[in-house]
Amino acid sequence: MLRERSSRRRMASSSTAAAALVVAALLLSSSPSPAAAAAGRGGELRMKHSDGGYSYNRTLAHIFVQYASAVYTSDLTSLFAWTCPRCQSDTKGFEMIEIIVDVENCLQAFVGVAPDPQSILIAFRGTQEHSVSNWIEDLFWKQLDVGYPGMPDAMVHHGFYTAYYNTTVRHEILESVRWARKTYGRLPINVVGHSMGGALASFCALDLSVKYGSQEVQLMTFGQPRVGNPSFAAYFSDQVPRTIRVTHQNDIVPHLPPYFCYLGEWTYHHFSREVWLHETIVGNVVTRNETICDGSGEDPTCSRSVYGRSVADHLEYYGVSLHADSRGTCQFVIGSTNMAYGTILEVDRTIIMTRYPQEWHAVESI
Ligand SMILES: *[C@@H]1O[C@H](CO)[C@@H](O)[C@H](O)[C@H]1NC(C)=O
Ligand SMILES: *[C@@H]1O[C@H](CO)[C@@H](O)[C@H](O)[C@H]1NC(C)=O
Ligand SMILES: *[C@@H]1O[C@H](CO)[C@@H](O)[C@H](O)[C@H]1NC(C)=O
Repeated sequence: MLRERSSRRRMASSSTAAAALVVAALLLSSSPSPAAAAAGRGGELRMKHSDGGYSYNRTLAHIFVQYASAVYTSDLTSLFAWTCPRCQSDTKGFEMIEIIVDVENCLQAFVGVAPDPQSILIAFRGTQEHSVSNWIEDLFWKQLDVGYPGMPDAMVHHGFYTAYYNTTVRHEILESVRWARKTYGRLPINVVGHSMGGALASFCALDLSVKYGSQEVQLMTFGQPRVGNPSFAAYFSDQVPRTIRVTHQNDIVPHLPPYFCYLGEWTYHHFSREVWLHETIVGNVVTRNETICDGSGEDPTCSRSVYGRSVADHLEYYGVSLHADSRGTCQFVIGSTNMAYGTILEVDRTIIMTRYPQEWHAVESI
């Protein structure tokens, strides 16, 4: 069922409870950090890595984090026109192709063409369904309960997996990328995301890498949780070698769901390559330090060397805020004007604002 909308819409889900209280509960439940416990052990699993000399580019990270921040904008009209307050400076000249808002799961993503680096850029935001803290608390209990198709032993979490693979989001992104490459030429593809958006960005980058080839796709995530087991991480690193997973100081989310090195394939395990942002204090001098971590995915000298319990560190990377402008709610606004070159569709509880012709959106449900 497909309807056109041009009227103003607002949607909101239930608001948050006292976040501070939840954080306090979190601290109690996270007794000895699995990271710190594991750091002291030998015999750790070492992942094969084949990043072919791919390296971290700080300038690029500063640009990408701005896209990861902009995708949190709830005023979809200004996001579409790229006039929103977070749509400035290094990202000027970005051309939006499509915004996708999965209302049910409170997820938002966009696809467009970036001027620097010239590429198709896809950004995912984190969930805001309840409060960030509630979502973080849930992360402690995620089971590895879905086998990743075509990869023996690879397991991921059902919720992360279906949020990308079993929603309209995936279909729309694949079609937008197909249209963009037809219209703008064979541009490389960059995928970015923060928090839960980093988990979705990972699946998206893997998906596109299988489709278009590993050298065409680059992934950078900020404060993402673990998404799969060691086999999945190894498979991921082979398929998406151009991956940087940025973590910040004591950000709690990269520590979750927990990693237990003695559980073999039954533990979550990050893929490489982590870049850990942290401050080093010597005497009175505070130095901002960026550590390029090893290729294992679980470098004990990076974020795993600290007790990651900070929500504040989760919400800021490179000095850029990464959360919704309306905190703790899933809300967005579409103005009635300035949609001169866009179309608004609603498919399966997903709002789509798009620049390309409607026939590309044909899905089974229509
Ligand atoms: C890093 O990225 C920036 C922005 O795209 C680019 O201008 C620069 O050439 C890159 N540096 C290296 C060493 O690749
Ligand atoms: C995907 O979604 C459909 C319909 O919403 C559902 O019936 C199916 O079980 C889902 N598949 C998975 C793997 O969750
Ligand atoms: C940066 O951090 C690493 C540990 O992650 C440490 O070995 C190094 O000395 C630090 N660099 C500075 C300039 O503080």
